Amino acid sequence: MANPDPSGTSPTIVIAIDGPAASGKSTVARALASHLGYRFLNSGDLYRAMTWACLKLGVDCRDTGAVATAAGQARIEVGCEGIDYYPLIDGNDPRRHLRDDQVNINVSPVSAVPAVRYILSAAIRTHAQGRQTVIEGRDIGSAVFPETPYKFYIDAPPQVRQRRRRNQGQMEEISRRDLIDSTRATDPLTIAPGATVIDTSTLDVQGVVAAILERLKEQGLA
Ligand code: DC
Repeated sequence: MANPDPSGTSPTIVIAIDGPAASGKSTVARALASHLGYRFLNSGDLYRAMTWACLKLGVDCRDTGAVATAAGQARIEVGCEGIDYYPLIDGNDPRRHLRDDQVNINVSPVSAVPAVRYILSAAIRTHAQGRQTVIEGRDIGSAVFPETPYKFYIDAPPQVRQRRRRNQGQMEEISRRDLIDSTRATDPLTIAPGATVIDTSTLDVQGVVAAILERLKEQGLA
C-alpha cells in the first residue's frame, strides 16, 4: 500500500492495545480507531496469516527451523479496507481462513518462533510510519513500539474469556494459548511498563473505550 502521506509530514501515532486471547481487545481497539478517525491493525491476524501460509505449504508448525525458513521466504503486505488493515501473504488474502481450527491450534507455536516475530514486528513498524493507527496484539506496547506513550493492557479472568469464545461459536482453548503466549522466550505477553490496565469483565465496549479516551485525554491526545 502506498504511504497515505507522500509529503512524509503526517505524524506517526500508535495506540497499543495488548492483552490475552478473548479479552475483548479487538472490538475495543477497532471501536477506538473508528472514534478517533484512525486505522486499525490486528497484529494477531499477521501471525495467523503466517500460520496459514505455513500450513498451506505443508510445513510442520512445531518445527522451528522449517517455520523460520518459510517465514523468511514469505512476502508480507498490508491491505486496507475501510478503517481495517489486513494481511496479504505472497499475494494471497487469507482473511476467511484466519480462524480455522488448524490456525487456532498452531498460531501460538508459530508466533513463538523468534524469526517470525522479527519479520512481523519489522513489517508492523514499517507499515505504521507516517500513520495514525490503533494496533492490538500481545507485545505492541512492550516490544514493537516501546516508545509510544499510549499503551493499554486489556484483561479479563480466564473463565470470562473462555465463555466469550464459546459464545462466538469457537472452541478455542484459551488457557493453552495464554500459557504459550506468556512464557515464550521472545517478546512474551506482558504488561508493558507504563501501560494502563483495564479489566473488561464488568465493562461493555463503550465503557472500555470511554476509559481509554479519558486516559488519552490526560495524555493530551484525544
Ligand atoms: O489476537 P489473536 O488471538 O488473534 O492472536 C493470535 C496469536 O498470535 C496469539 O496466540 C499470539 C500471537 N500474537 C503475538 O504473538 N504477538 C502479537 N503482537 C499478536 C498476536
